[in-house]
Amino acid sequence: MSEAPPPTVLVTGALGQIGTELVSALRDRYGNDSVIASDIREIDGHPIIKNGTFLTADVLDKEALEIIIDENNVDIIYHLAAILSATGEKNPELCERVNVGGLANVLELAREHGLRVFSPSSIAVFGPDCPNHAPQLTPLNPTTTYGETKVSGEVMARYYWEVHGVDVRGLRYPGLISWKAPAGGGTTDYAVEIFHHAVKTGKYSCFVGPDTRLPMMYMDDAIRATLELMDAPVDSISESRAGYNISGCSFSVTELVAEISKSIDQFECTYSPDIRQEYADSWPDSVDDSEARNDWGWNAEFELEQLVSEMLTNLTRTREVEE
Ligand SMILES: NC(=O)c1ccc[n+]([C@@H]2O[C@H](COP(=O)([O-])OP(=O)(O)OC[C@H]3O[C@@H](n4cnc5c(N)ncnc54)[C@H](O)[C@@H]3O)[C@@H](O)[C@H]2O)c1
Repeated sequence: MSEAPPPTVLVTGALGQIGTELVSALRDRYGNDSVIASDIREIDGHPIIKNGTFLTADVLDKEALEIIIDENNVDIIYHLAAILSATGEKNPELCERVNVGGLANVLELAREHGLRVFSPSSIAVFGPDCPNHAPQLTPLNPTTTYGETKVSGEVMARYYWEVHGVDVRGLRYPGLISWKAPAGGGTTDYAVEIFHHAVKTGKYSCFVGPDTRLPMMYMDDAIRATLELMDAPVDSISESRAGYNISGCSFSVTELVAEISKSIDQFECTYSPDIRQEYADSWPDSVDDSEARNDWGWNAEFELEQLVSEMLTNLTRTREVEE
């Protein structure tokens, strides 16, 4: 019996922090020709553009997206295009338009063309009234526009599943830590920037205070969670389908600095909190991911120690190659 052909996948926002790694993982799995990467911008020499099909597309242009879907017989959309929290709070109107309007276009096209969708949510859906260890089910009262757009995204996704049968799934990603692409303007960017500065200069001025503790995850875990959620049989997916909590590791900046200092002698971190401290303070310290564990077998692999070791090793190696 011949094997079924791989699905054709479209990734929006593909040149961002997650897209850079998710597109590679999807191409490894389905083949370069089956995964179309798209973004509103182009980056010269970006590996995602060099290694397969890349198209520029604005997710607010529904017609342009529809042409891509029709011409390529797209089966699944991984919808990563968004404006993140720190950038979004500087321009809430754009954040609302891209995050809610872009998803509305994607969901409507998915309904019309029978597509499956991955639509990321975030720990930013939680607000100050959420317990420090965030339950899966809790009132969602974010204080940021970005968080509100993510709550709206979950509501819209659930609606499209319940009313139109669109198989859309999502994860409430924690702050993601990776070395292949820069972080994209979120509040948890300090946990990525700190490694670059540690390797380059041995110093970092952190924009949140030393006791700030947030849910975080190494990118390899986040990519695996994304693929595992999308692979799970539809009847294993519960009502949390639009925003499963997933936990990686949770640490304060002081704990992160101590771990980095084990490898980088005399690493020095100073603190100069800005408005992003307020966003961080409105989010929980950690999340309860028992539903993801029970429904589709989620289990994170990277703890703080291993995460720090991977980041420092890879950034040091990349720096040596560049020099
Ligand atoms: N990285 C994290 O720590 C994190 C945490 C929680 C949730 N998320 C969510 O994951 C998704 C991807 O995040 P990321 O970190 O890769 O973000 P990113 O900012 O690194 O990348 C987003 C990409 O979207 C593109 N984009 C922006 N507006 C667009 C438009 N109108 N049309 C097409 N493309 C557009 C940008 O050019 C960028 O390449 C987002 O929904 C984000 O909210 C990320």
